[in-house]
Amino acid sequence: MNSKLDFIFNRRSIRKFTAKAVSKKNITELLEAAMAAPSACAKDPWRFIVVRNRGNLQHIVELLPNGKFLADAPVGIIVCGDISAAHAGSESYMLQDCSAAIENILLAARALGLGTCWLGVHPRTERIAGIAKFFGLPDNIVPISAIAVGHPDKMPEKHTRFMADNVHWEKW
Ligand SMILES: Cc1cc2nc3c(=O)[nH]c(=O)nc-3n(C[C@H](O)[C@H](O)[C@H](O)COP(=O)(O)O)c2cc1C
Repeated sequence: MNSKLDFIFNRRSIRKFTAKAVSKKNITELLEAAMAAPSACAKDPWRFIVVRNRGNLQHIVELLPNGKFLADAPVGIIVCGDISAAHAGSESYMLQDCSAAIENILLAARALGLGTCWLGVHPRTERIAGIAKFFGLPDNIVPISAIAVGHPDKMPEKHTRFMADNVHWEKW
């Protein structure tokens, strides 16, 4: 692993956070990184809801069976897509654009000494409906993922899941 890429290899899913708050400056920096992601025809269909209220976080985790630890995270970021803004009105482009923004948040967080975990919402219809209802989302706004953000309780070892068998050179 090339150490110049450590900012990638050091990103691991963090599911336990210290009680230390995440500054508004850091949150804004994460969102600046998100909105620097590539986007089909630069339509930027991503929308973000920043959640710090403990009661709201507790409500959200009732909808996320594999994300209970978000209730104890200092910040949750709900990443949504605006289907009316997506290139060609395409759900696929919207999801790809938002996924690129999410990964930028995860990598930026690691560079700032923060930890994150990506929590799946889309395509689970019950999670989409529950989050849309709780936040009162307009019909064109689709919740895609939640991200838990905080100061990591401990930083895991860097890694890659590189497998040469997954790579095909020139032809399959
Ligand atoms: C679309 C998506 C949904 C995910 N949903 C969850 C989730 O609900 N709960 C969770 O703990 N981790 C979730 N993860 C994180 C993965 O479990 C994690 O990335 C994977 O195990 C690899 O570990 P690493 O992130 O430390 O490299 C999700 C990741 C992706 C990309």
